[in-house]
Amino acid sequence: MKKVAVFGSGNGSNFQAIIDYFKDKDVEFIAVSDKKDSFFLQRAKNNNIKNYYVPFKETVEFLEKNVFDLIVLAGYMRVLPHNAIEGRKIINIHPSLLPEFKGLNAIEKAYNSKNKITGVTVHYVNEDVDSGVIISQASVKIEENMSLIELESEIHKIEHILYPHVIDHLLFNRKLCTLKLFSKGEQY
Ligand code: GRF
Repeated sequence: MKKVAVFGSGNGSNFQAIIDYFKDKDVEFIAVSDKKDSFFLQRAKNNNIKNYYVPFKETVEFLEKNVFDLIVLAGYMRVLPHNAIEGRKIINIHPSLLPEFKGLNAIEKAYNSKNKITGVTVHYVNEDVDSGVIISQASVKIEENMSLIELESEIHKIEHILYPHVIDHLLFNRKLCTLKLFSKGEQY
């Protein structure tokens, strides 16, 4: 049985997609949040998943006491320190084709750029924001006349497909298909 910790601070839609994908598979998830009242933690409760409110300053201590095969950041709005990262396999998802548009408001930054394509990146976590080694990317077309809200919705749809597949790859060696171009309605 693989043991995976998912860290989040907000809505938790990626977390939901991950637990739905692995519903009948041999993976134990636990949810960790730095936000006591987050919907992320509520989702864990709704799905009977072990969940912990861990204030940011107690994160290293928590990680020292609990061993995981993989740590998945899914909307976790903190930068982990060196001693949390060292010796652990930690991944993150970011809503742009890194290295473009690191940090906050990445979808909006891409939307307001001249780019015709943006996307989603899953990468290993290092001490710099959105800068670790890239594992997989999927692209999304910025169609003419698309609103920002429509683009956000496309990006999130792709995130919810890509992230579980990457986790499946890292845990069970599932084959990964990299940088497949998505257009509206197309399936992974
Ligand atoms: C996602 O867009 C993810 O790429 C970014 O934060 C957002 C989290 O959304 N890192 P959710 O909490 O999974 O709904």
